[in-house]
Amino acid sequence: MPFPIHRPRRLRASEPMRRLVRETRLAPSDFILPLFAVEGEGDRREIGSMPGNYQLSVDEIVKECELCHSLGIGGVILFGIPNEKDDCASQAYAEAGIVQRAVAAIKRAVPDLLVITDVCNCEYTSHGHCGKIVGEDVDNDATLAWLAASAVSHARAGTDIVAPSDMMDGRVAAIRAALDTAGFQKTPILSYAAKYASAFYGPFREAAESAPQFGDRRSYQMDPPNALEAMREIALDIEEGADMIMVKPAMPYLDIIRMARDRFDVPLAAYQVSGEFSMIMAAARNGWIDLDRAMIESLTAIRRAGAGFILTYFAQPAARLLA
Ligand code: PBG
Repeated sequence: MPFPIHRPRRLRASEPMRRLVRETRLAPSDFILPLFAVEGEGDRREIGSMPGNYQLSVDEIVKECELCHSLGIGGVILFGIPNEKDDCASQAYAEAGIVQRAVAAIKRAVPDLLVITDVCNCEYTSHGHCGKIVGEDVDNDATLAWLAASAVSHARAGTDIVAPSDMMDGRVAAIRAALDTAGFQKTPILSYAAKYASAFYGPFREAAESAPQFGDRRSYQMDPPNALEAMREIALDIEEGADMIMVKPAMPYLDIIRMARDRFDVPLAAYQVSGEFSMIMAAARNGWIDLDRAMIESLTAIRRAGAGFILTYFAQPAARLLA
């Protein structure tokens, strides 16, 4: 018998052949671009640790959204950076808060672009924690009211999806109830169900000016060694009414994405977080890796692990590469 009979290289011989047997595909519509809204006009402040990403005033955010729409990007997720922070995160749920105004302006200018709003308190509290501080820790149940009020204010402003990222217990149920009471039965919840206490959020905290002033987030975000706990978190959020779930970060947690995809049948997102983006950018800027290839490979890996869509700071350049 001639050796070898099986030659896997036959199906790798040319790009058309590889394309034919490719198991994972990327499209611009798989990507959600995170955007940071600040007060002001005509303001575009580049975020030092995240090249190509900016804190944008509302008029500039609208321009960015028009560009996203023309590139066929799936949508945007908004984070707000208010001028005034206080210990009760009041700008998070203010009717005319920065995110609420940004949503309204985007939906007016680009109604077809999907807008997701991040529901959390850390950008709005003077102490930088994701909820109300009682003693030395974030008080879970007291924080739920802030989250519910934020979600309703986002829905009122016209957001398409609310995405709680705070990791309080019971927040999905609280938000669902508040949305329904306020008449927003149709607004879906994308829950950051398995969100880890990760070192890879470093650059985001510069971008969102949300670093905790004391302590860390380990009493509410998940412990990185745990996988089964992530499955329990996801199951709880689905029970509480989450329409979609998210795993975050993405590349260091591909096993969690795969486990979630195999166990749950709701749409699954993954967040390629700021540190994942900045590491690739920094290595590319040093000439150590090829930016375009690393970008596409990282996004492909996240999709291959089972994510249906990806929150990524590469949304625009990746969409351009795929065009
Ligand atoms: C808010 C929030 C964070 C991120 C998304 N929502 C920061 C954090 O939890 O500290 C991180 C996103 C990123 O790093 O790109 N709670």
